[in-house]
Amino acid sequence: MSVLRVNGGRPLHGEITVRGAKNLVPKAMVASLLSAETSQLASVPDIRDVEVVTKLLNLHGVEVDFNKSVGVLTLRPAEVHAASVEEVDQHAGSSRIPILLCGPLLHRLGKAVIPNLGGCDIGGRPIDFHIATLRKFGAEVEKLPHGIELRAPNGLEGTKVELPYPSVGATEQTLLTAVRARGITELRGAAVEPEIMDLVAVLQKMGAIISVDTDRVIRVEGVEELRGFNHVALPDRIEAASWASAALATGGDITVRGARQADMMTFLNVFRKVGGDFDITEDAIRFRRGSDGDLRSIVLETNVHPGFMTDWQQPLVVALTQAEGLSIVHETVYENRFGFTEALRRMGAKIQVYRECLGGLQCRFGARNFYHSAVISGPTPLTGADIDVPDLRGGFSHVVAALAASGVSHVSGVDIINRGYENFMEKLVALDADVELQ
Ligand code: EPU
Repeated sequence: MSVLRVNGGRPLHGEITVRGAKNLVPKAMVASLLSAETSQLASVPDIRDVEVVTKLLNLHGVEVDFNKSVGVLTLRPAEVHAASVEEVDQHAGSSRIPILLCGPLLHRLGKAVIPNLGGCDIGGRPIDFHIATLRKFGAEVEKLPHGIELRAPNGLEGTKVELPYPSVGATEQTLLTAVRARGITELRGAAVEPEIMDLVAVLQKMGAIISVDTDRVIRVEGVEELRGFNHVALPDRIEAASWASAALATGGDITVRGARQADMMTFLNVFRKVGGDFDITEDAIRFRRGSDGDLRSIVLETNVHPGFMTDWQQPLVVALTQAEGLSIVHETVYENRFGFTEALRRMGAKIQVYRECLGGLQCRFGARNFYHSAVISGPTPLTGADIDVPDLRGGFSHVVAALAASGVSHVSGVDIINRGYENFMEKLVALDADVELQ
């Protein structure tokens, strides 16, 4: 397990580039399976999730070439075949993406074996919506000790789906299954994140017929065959916002090349309200503190798009430890996403977590046993400490806290950050951080 030694207390400054979104690229790779033709995806970051999905696709006979220097993936799914349970099982716990192979594999092969899922430990992360949806399409789903097995002996039939919560994954599951199902699918309660709209764009390029209506309704007219696609992935708005918060927390000045205003409107409003400033150009956003250098407290609720993303919350909380007054952050997407605050407290932050829904709406987690609201009292100086990375976004925020803190910190388990941040170490060095991998 790698340990990052951070000599903190220096503002980050300089320029970095973000490429395609971690939460789109692996899904577009899965979409390629829906056709027998070759597809090409550009602006692909070199991150662990791309590696995991490449291996899974390889097991099913898809040839994948990744030209890392230019970020282009070529996917050749002409000869798709089933993978053995043992082979698939080797990828258990590695990512959330395998569940999205269900629809494409059922269309191509009539059966699928999906390993138990991984991903960050930020709540229960059930797959009940996925299973219920697949059954509605006519799939037979059987739970196995090591995952699930699916069959569709009679093919899949378009259906009406209503999601109890606008889940990103379950919306993608529905899309990837509906595009080649017989007849029409109507999805209500859909998630409409920009990454989902980009997946819709990929599927449309492949020949799918999808209309996105008002009020979270998506209609899909199934087609018999799809062709390959050629697509440039939308930029990673989570990574862009992470570096923006790093600039805020360390009092630095970071230009994020590739960051796109349209996908980050909600973040940019919050960034400005807490005392940040930014300049937007054609292909970059420059982030820094406002002219007085002071940060202001805020009341914030995470939510599905177009709300403030749950994945934007953690590095911003680090910046809020430096803001004047009491900030309230209510996490409404995941029930257990404040685990990372324990390390911040050890570094000197004053953060209290609560089971109650603080700050506004009652959410699904209110009056239950989940610490899903946080009150941050600032400003508090942070001092270096030895800390363990809990998950991807929490891990990034730990590194930001170490960079903002005075003195030396040792952050262990930083490898997990490579799941979602391309060239993480190189970027830190480019931003003049005093860091060393041990
Ligand atoms: N949920 C259920 N049942 C389901 C599916 C979801 O109860 O069958 C619940 C979840 O437990 C959660 C909520 O619905 O409370 C939202 O989950 P969602 O399905 O939207 O999340 P996901 O598809 O598993 C993706 C991203 C996450 C991001 C969320 C929300 C990927 C690979 N992951 O997860 O990204 O936080 O959407 O935007 O796209 C990250 O990048 O660090 C990350 C965790």
